[in-house]
Amino acid sequence: MASSSSSAAAAAASVACSSPPSSILIIGSGVFGLSTALALARRDAFAHCSITVVDRSDPSQPGAFPSPDAASIDASRIVRADYADKAYAALCNEAQAEWRRQASPADLGARGRYNETGLILVGDAEPPAPAADQADQEADLKPKLTGLDYARKSWANVQSLAAKDPELAARIRELPNPDAIRDALGTGGSSGAWGYVNYNSGWANAAASMSWYLDRVRETGRVALVAGTVVSLEHTGDAVTGAKLADGRVLSADLVIVAAGAWTGALVDLAGQAIATGQVLAYVDLTEEEHEELANMPVILNVSTGLFVMPPVNRTLKIAKHFLGYINPVQPAHPPLPLTPRSPPPTTPTPPPPPVSLPRTSLTDPTLSIPPSAAADLRRALREMVPWPALRDRPFAKTRLCWYSDTPTADFIIDHHPNWRGLFVATGDSGHAFKFLPVIGDKIVDRILREGPAEFEGKWDWKAKTEALPTRFTQDGSRGVSEAGLVLSDVLEKEEGEEEEA
Ligand SMILES: Cc1cc2nc3c(=O)[nH]c(=O)nc-3n(C[C@H](O)[C@H](O)[C@H](O)COP(=O)(O)OP(=O)(O)OC[C@H]3O[C@@H](n4cnc5c(N)ncnc54)[C@H](O)[C@@H]3O)c2cc1C
Ligand SMILES: *[C@@H]1O[C@H](CO)[C@@H](O)[C@H](O)[C@H]1NC(C)=O
Ligand SMILES: *[C@@H]1O[C@H](CO)[C@@H](O)[C@H](O)[C@H]1NC(C)=O
Ligand SMILES: *[C@@H]1O[C@H](CO)[C@@H](O)[C@H](O)[C@H]1NC(C)=O
Repeated sequence: MASSSSSAAAAAASVACSSPPSSILIIGSGVFGLSTALALARRDAFAHCSITVVDRSDPSQPGAFPSPDAASIDASRIVRADYADKAYAALCNEAQAEWRRQASPADLGARGRYNETGLILVGDAEPPAPAADQADQEADLKPKLTGLDYARKSWANVQSLAAKDPELAARIRELPNPDAIRDALGTGGSSGAWGYVNYNSGWANAAASMSWYLDRVRETGRVALVAGTVVSLEHTGDAVTGAKLADGRVLSADLVIVAAGAWTGALVDLAGQAIATGQVLAYVDLTEEEHEELANMPVILNVSTGLFVMPPVNRTLKIAKHFLGYINPVQPAHPPLPLTPRSPPPTTPTPPPPPVSLPRTSLTDPTLSIPPSAAADLRRALREMVPWPALRDRPFAKTRLCWYSDTPTADFIIDHHPNWRGLFVATGDSGHAFKFLPVIGDKIVDRILREGPAEFEGKWDWKAKTEALPTRFTQDGSRGVSEAGLVLSDVLEKEEGEEEEA
């Protein structure tokens, strides 16, 4: 029954275009899943289609969408049109038009869901030292961008947009030295040697915005929300037909959209496409006065190290690191759906599937904490960016590991699966998808219908074997210089007993 990928593609096209599927199942209710559900519910072509969204449920909070350990949830996310890549910069402009709707309290950007306090992007003046994974980089197909290259390209893009937009031009400024950076930051701190500020960028309250979207989805009356954990995809021949839940229920659908974030690799073989990487965060409690003093600070991101500080939400300041991250290779409980349908089913025992990096979070592992070396990095960023004596040694109220689905180029994967009919994948967020929440669902539906968007043709494709990049780690230059392939459990073991400030 195995079919060539071109006939599978033709079949998928006929399912999605000439006769819209009568049922769609979306796995995951994060940015990708929830926005897709809303866009489908509003699209005429899908007026007669039943739409179901399933997400893992936290037993203590049944029916929480998305799950509390999803990438799409905590207080704040940067919304920046400052990309080294023009297509993403333009997509963010489109999204910001929605974020900026604040006239009525019911608008997306109102009630503190979006604030435009600016973004300072800083970098080093020297090219950074080569990362550990030299072999990978030499084999890389695209030249690797350094943090400074990234910041300069992004600055060039912002300037070229500003050339056509006097309003934007008035809101950007180069920060050629540490003193200029200190003036723009306004906390007394500085970071990096060169940078720029864009007051057209801001931040969104992630949890509040996801909850706003969930309300919009509920209002349509079109979407069934199911709490449950998918353990495997159901299939016959070369077609995916639904999903099986941990409690034994089966949800059937003509089209299954896997939008399971960093967990996607547990359901679909993503070897060579994307890898789950753990990123670190820490939160510091502030007094009311401290909160007031920092409330209007810009976001500051040091692209040399990936360390950044976000303005406070609810008297909590957040420090984080955007880097190559940790991996967590585990043997999946159920083998993920293979790249190609096997036909006939193998009679000889198949070897166990290779390990897959999957999220390890405090929801499934309550004793989990970030490695002491990571906590020390976050502490260093706090001391440099907000150098207040009172905060210097204030203990972190909480730390968190948050998981990206990272692709080698940081492009998303929003595509029909090349070999399985009835399967669409929306993942590979690469740690930068939140800002697109207001627009990404519609683009995903366009991709389901094979109707563009033209500027992401190729970028958002499932990569064919020949195009698969030899490096598995993100090399877009936005990540601070860091070692590739650090295994979380090894680092935790090695640093056991070490103090945060060691
Ligand atoms: C620490 C951190 C900081 C970030 N900062 C920014 C930023 O500043 N700006 C920005 O634009 N972006 C940022 N991002 C990225 C952005 O948050 C993500 O790109 C986006 O949230 C990804 O959404 P998603 O839907 O792919 O994944 P998720 O939000 O993780 O959603 C996936 C959902 O699928 C569910 N799921 C998984 N497996 C199963 C299963 N088997 N059965 C049922 N359900 C399942 C999960 O429970 C989860 O709710 C950040 C991300 C992190 C982690
Ligand atoms: C902030 O605090 C309020 C009241 O305690 C709460 O309702 C809200 O959810 C909090 N917001 C975030 C993002 O934590
Ligand atoms: C954020 O926006 C809300 C209104 O939408 C406003 O009340 C609040 O003061 C703003 N905060 C900052 C830091 O600008
Ligand atoms: C910021 O970047 C500079 C290089 O310009 C680096 O030396 C410094 O350690 C970085 N600071 C943080 C907190 O990441």
